[in-house]
Amino acid sequence: MKAEPVLDARCGLGEGPVWDEREARLYFVDIMAGRVHRYTPASGALETMETHEPVGAAALCEDGGLLCALQSGFAVAERFGAGLRLLASYEGAAPDIRMNDGKCDPQGRFWAGTMALDFRPGAGALYRLDPDGRVTRMLEGVTISNGLDWSADGSRMYYIDSPRRMIEVFDFDPGPGTISRRRPFAVIEEGAGIPDGMTLDAEGRVWVALWGGGAVRCYGPDGKLLEVIETPAPQTTSCAFGGPDFGELYITTARDGLTDSQLAQAPLSGGLFRARPGVQGRAANRFRRAAGSRAADPVS
Ligand code: BGC
Ligand code: CA
Repeated sequence: MKAEPVLDARCGLGEGPVWDEREARLYFVDIMAGRVHRYTPASGALETMETHEPVGAAALCEDGGLLCALQSGFAVAERFGAGLRLLASYEGAAPDIRMNDGKCDPQGRFWAGTMALDFRPGAGALYRLDPDGRVTRMLEGVTISNGLDWSADGSRMYYIDSPRRMIEVFDFDPGPGTISRRRPFAVIEEGAGIPDGMTLDAEGRVWVALWGGGAVRCYGPDGKLLEVIETPAPQTTSCAFGGPDFGELYITTARDGLTDSQLAQAPLSGGLFRARPGVQGRAANRFRRAAGSRAADPVS
């Protein structure tokens, strides 16, 4: 199956698609450009919000705001385009470290990981932001913290540290929000690209974007390869289901890391793509920030 172009967004590092089913819109980020975009399929409108620093991921808040994983910490905009206010910094924040992929768990906590700007092995970590603004480091020694998602029953968390070339899975304890028993789920073979962002569909299949692989792959709950969706852009970064019936798989891509001749061959790199793989996704979990966590310092 081939994905169709939706938007020639020209992102350097398009990432982190999230479908907002209340407004029928797709949010995604352009990490190093410090931008959150939102795309409204009904009108074709593309709007952009500047974050003024690298933004690894954005998540919807249950009460309407937008949570951003900024290089300096976790910040909330009360509405799209409004100023960002810092909710929490994180131990380990540094000028050469930035946030990368992030997502909310089924209990409404937000998880996001970091990486070194020079990709230095082991310099990143995975953090959990609780609704009250407390931040806990959940994993250390990560290199490129990337895609993550939870099983429908909430008992497992899937996770990618890209250079490990595999999707891993943890047991997830929903009460305290802890992870244990890390093990491989699916290994990406040499030459296929490296695993980047991911999402689970309603049947527990795992959809993973392959950076350098020009594709999204689908693995069954047992880790068996079931399907490949090709993107006409080699740096495939992430995917999320959306659309009126959650039947559309939105796919983000990047221009970063491509030579001029590769860009000439894949001019839509950095754009947004879409496929209808014949399965359905699930609504994104939202950040359930505590009522008292609203006021904080403006960051932009
Ligand atoms: C990171 C990129 C990295 C890519 C592949 C992305 O999530 O933001 O910097 O090159 O993953 O691992
Ligand atoms: Ca990513």
